Amino acid sequence: MAEPHATDVTIGVCYYPEHWPEAMWADDARRMRAAGITRVRIGEFAWSRLEPRPGHFDFDWLGRAIDTLHGAGLEVVLGTPTATPPKWLVDRMPDMLPVDARGRTRGFSSRRHYCFSHAGYRHECARIVTALAERFGRHPGIVAWQTDNEYGCHDTVLSYSHEALVGFRHWLKERYGDIHALNEAWGNVFWSMEYRDFAEIDLPAGAVTETNPAHRADFHRYASDQVAAFNRVQTAIIRTLSPGRDILHNFMTFFLDFDHYAVMKDLDIATWDSYPLGSLDVFPGEAAHKAAFARTGDPDLQAFHHDLYRGAGRGRFWVMEQQPGPVNWAQYNTDAAPGLVRLWGLEGFAHGAETISYFRWRQAPFAQEQFHAGLNLPDNTPDRAFFEVEHLSADLAALGPLGVPVAAKAALVFSYEAAWFLRVQPQGRNFTYIEQAFAMYRALRRLGLDIDIVGPQADLAPYTLVLVPPMPHVPDVLAAALSTFKGTLLVGTRTGSRTASHRIPDNLAPGPLAAVLGVKVTRAESFRPGSAVPVRFDNETFAFDRWREFVVTAPGTEVLAETEDGHPALTRRARAHYLAGAPDPALLERIVERLAREAGLAVMTLPAGLRTRRRGAFRFVFNYGPGPVDISPYFPDRDFVLGALALDVGGVAVSRFLAGP
Ligand code: GAL
Repeated sequence: MAEPHATDVTIGVCYYPEHWPEAMWADDARRMRAAGITRVRIGEFAWSRLEPRPGHFDFDWLGRAIDTLHGAGLEVVLGTPTATPPKWLVDRMPDMLPVDARGRTRGFSSRRHYCFSHAGYRHECARIVTALAERFGRHPGIVAWQTDNEYGCHDTVLSYSHEALVGFRHWLKERYGDIHALNEAWGNVFWSMEYRDFAEIDLPAGAVTETNPAHRADFHRYASDQVAAFNRVQTAIIRTLSPGRDILHNFMTFFLDFDHYAVMKDLDIATWDSYPLGSLDVFPGEAAHKAAFARTGDPDLQAFHHDLYRGAGRGRFWVMEQQPGPVNWAQYNTDAAPGLVRLWGLEGFAHGAETISYFRWRQAPFAQEQFHAGLNLPDNTPDRAFFEVEHLSADLAALGPLGVPVAAKAALVFSYEAAWFLRVQPQGRNFTYIEQAFAMYRALRRLGLDIDIVGPQADLAPYTLVLVPPMPHVPDVLAAALSTFKGTLLVGTRTGSRTASHRIPDNLAPGPLAAVLGVKVTRAESFRPGSAVPVRFDNETFAFDRWREFVVTAPGTEVLAETEDGHPALTRRARAHYLAGAPDPALLERIVERLAREAGLAVMTLPAGLRTRRRGAFRFVFNYGPGPVDISPYFPDRDFVLGALALDVGGVAVSRFLAGP
């Protein structure tokens, strides 16, 4: 068994004392510590036990649970229970329930049954959070708070309730001031959609055909703002009543329905819930790819989120829930290959995580998640993940302090608003923001680079290579940053194609980037699967497989690649490149590799499942498979602390890296 060790990172676990007899708690806590676990998250779904009747709090059991865990040497992260309002509360205030786009109320009997816009529900949240923070805010065992749980999970950001309607009208009035400004911004003269008053505006659903895209874009913005405001109600209370504790929230995989950067303004640490196998199953992808990585997860998916949330967390992030084995919620719930529970943990640490916390301590023998693995079986015998967590804590002891992630020279600019705009008018059903952005990330990571994912407001000066996935509306601050950026830039198709109010810019796409890129887009077309346009680059033929544009170039703009029918596919002006289409993966990889070399980055071309990240003095290498790999051709570093040159599937090697870029 691993002993407490000198390290700067921690292992955690999610625990539900209310699910188990109190007689088990002390032994659970003791065994957590013995396995090397030092943090435990509790409480986030316990409202019906914390307030069994309106106004009657029963916090004593939670107090005993916190004392037991703290007494065993565990640091407690206390969740606010607002993702699961109890039945009595919903019955008292039924209009707090979320409503779907077809106008159907989404009822009680699972979780997240609330509308973010509902003022009465926010008031109820403030009430229970105040009571909890008054009671436990200064408890020495509490090191952090988690607000709610997975904002937006189960498709709950966009709610079409009456409260949302009232709130949206008010929000529009604040934004536009007068109704003529809104009519003008949205272009409501089209189809006689003009309004005389904000009170006439409905939510953008239930119309005969497509509603105005500007209307929907604003509804996304409004809904996103409600998530931030809802969260802020809780953080304001906790900050006052629980000084010195970190406040965090657990975000999700590929989740775009609200602006995480905005929510993070009120939080100290970004955390996310990492379910590699469940996520592989639900993310669009080729069947062959999913089959190859069914038991390991996609080799870039976890890293993408580590980098995304490290950026959103201003350098501070955790994995709050790490998959321990099969989950219960994907279409097909495959078991992990041996070693992956450890690998996913080490990879999180390699990307800078402060804590990796496993979901959950013990598999639940009742209710919705009976098929979901834990570290222990329902009969309390340790399951395979338990031993892998022990292994992970021994690894951390062997490594010692990890330090901070090596500063990346390559960055990807990530925008939630871009995802909303491309959802509002995809103009091709296979064109999604997340697939385009993730493909760019994969192309970078395949080169063995350390990568930052940054928001549109970020300072780009530290980077020598910046990639911008398709971003229809380029905020002024980003346009300014890109026009003074000194490094190599690759801008994705459709960037700058819309204004903030979802109109075509007066100077056409790429709008505010016209001078930087030296192109003008005059037409676009989208393709169904199998009807790609060939693209010649580097004496080889690739393709634009979903989208292409017809562009005219300004004098001084070079054409680096052309479509087979003779139109510019990749252009360059100084060091700024524009992609006039959605490249297939091979073309994207080739272009990104060329640009990374030109930018002076040390690149390698890694096989499909081999990936790397550097933190402190260490280079971590991960083998996601599909087969064993001899890593010696790729990595000159030989001073191994963990693993060796031959890596089986699920294997990890950690060496002290030779100094270099
Ligand atoms: C997460 C959620 C947990 C649990 C888990 C199962 O989305 O936060 O409460 O449901 O999924 O994988």
